[in-house]
Amino acid sequence: MSEVSSAPPSPYNRKNPYLAELIRHEHLTKAGSGKDTRHFVVNLAGSGLSYNPGDSLAVIARNSPQLVEQVIALTGFDPLAPVTVKDSLGQPKSVPFRQALSENFILNRATKKIMSGLAERVPQGEQRNKIMEIVDNDEVLADYVYSRDYVDALTEFDEAKFESPDVFISQLSPIPPRLYSIASSLAAHPDEVHLCIAIVRYETHGRKKTGLCSGFFADHAELNQRNIPIYVQESRHFRLPKDGARDIIMVGPGTGIAPFRAFLEQRSADGATGRNWLFFGEQHRASEFFYEDEFAAMQKKGVLTRLDTAFSRDQAEKIYVQHRMKENGKELWAWLQGGAYFYVCGDAHRMAKDVHQALIDIAREHGGLSPEAAAEYVNVTLMKTDKRYLRDVY
Ligand SMILES: Cc1cc2nc3c(=O)[nH]c(=O)nc-3n(C[C@H](O)[C@H](O)[C@H](O)COP(=O)(O)OP(=O)(O)OC[C@H]3O[C@@H](n4cnc5c(N)ncnc54)[C@H](O)[C@@H]3O)c2cc1C
Ligand SMILES: NC(=O)c1ccc[n+]([C@@H]2O[C@H](COP(=O)([O-])OP(=O)(O)OC[C@H]3O[C@@H](n4cnc5c(N)ncnc54)[C@H](OP(=O)(O)O)[C@@H]3O)[C@@H](O)[C@H]2O)c1
Repeated sequence: MSEVSSAPPSPYNRKNPYLAELIRHEHLTKAGSGKDTRHFVVNLAGSGLSYNPGDSLAVIARNSPQLVEQVIALTGFDPLAPVTVKDSLGQPKSVPFRQALSENFILNRATKKIMSGLAERVPQGEQRNKIMEIVDNDEVLADYVYSRDYVDALTEFDEAKFESPDVFISQLSPIPPRLYSIASSLAAHPDEVHLCIAIVRYETHGRKKTGLCSGFFADHAELNQRNIPIYVQESRHFRLPKDGARDIIMVGPGTGIAPFRAFLEQRSADGATGRNWLFFGEQHRASEFFYEDEFAAMQKKGVLTRLDTAFSRDQAEKIYVQHRMKENGKELWAWLQGGAYFYVCGDAHRMAKDVHQALIDIAREHGGLSPEAAAEYVNVTLMKTDKRYLRDVY
């Protein structure tokens, strides 16, 4: 059945990533959308890499070439000057300054460290007074770096001169791998891993900015070039039930839909007999109903038993997935009483908390439980004892 853990352990990990190629790049958001969410397919053929639905793909992105060139120009150093960086095993290696800036260090978010580095090097005068006011106050400093990248900071304090390219890079932070919930099942797409990525774009201080990794996928990763370092980050808990006869309820607004596309593909391939209920939410049906045709086909096939959607901005009042859960609370409670697994994926800050509360409200209203007993049922029975309330939130 679906939880196939018989695959040999992957030879690829954070210390030894696989260089993969991107083979498809599609838009999920349509004209008129205020968002930019895309579908990417990475080729695993020949890698020996494998994964299970619920796992994530870790990606080590490169900075935008424009940002790299702007930073080089602001430092005034030779882009070909050799600098010493650590390789993935932590061993020192010499690479040109440009390559180090492209592959090794975060440039799209200024840090407290670079601000201290600049403060030490700005000579007495107006710029020095200004930077000291920033670095001497933790709150002002946090606020300053939140909305600025290295170009903003180096431009504003251009009197600071770093002694050498090596000294400059010693002030930078390494690029950490970014995780993406895998949106495919190997059973449906052999040798491929699919991702659903919301591209982070915003404008601050008169300049357009992009998220490091999502921007890399959207704007810089070339197709059919084996040069994207990746590895599979196995999930310890976010798994389909071993028993394919169990029902599952999936709540995945926005990019939270990703692992549920994988779950549905896997349940279909397994011929799992349990029912599958999906709650999906986005801003508008017309422009952000990701994978609409695929879900329609799955409904037709009988794989997707129920699909409830919440398009938050298609009407005056906001409608979110938790509203749809509550509208269908009686049935949802019946599924849970019948042993269904309950999964949530997506935004951790607001959505997952509200969905959690909706579940408690449903247990109270439809289970006839006191507020305390309803909370206990969700927090202890479902989550800890039965382990059938599982979350993949970020
Ligand atoms: C287990 C897991 C699974 C995940 N799965 C997915 C997935 O399937 N799909 C997906 O899209 N993401 C997913 N993520 C999130 C993903 O890992 C990245 O965090 C996301 O893509 C942003 O990374 P980035 O490098 O593009 O942006 P970064 O370079 O990290 O920039 C993002 C930062 O930009 C800042 N920012 C945004 N707007 C503004 C603004 N207006 N002003 C100032 N700063 C701003 C925010 O502080 C934010 O932290 C997942 C995360 C985890 C942990
Ligand atoms: N840094 C950024 O610029 C940025 C931008 C977007 C998302 N994110 C983060 O990226 C992740 C996923 O984003 P995403 O674009 O896939 O989707 P998302 O922002 O989570 O939005 C998906 C849907 O969820 C709705 N929503 C908002 N608040 C909610 C709540 N409390 N409960 C239930 N639904 C709620 C949204 O409605 P409304 O939008 O109408 O409120 C939208 O319809 C999240 O972690 C999010 O915080 C970051």
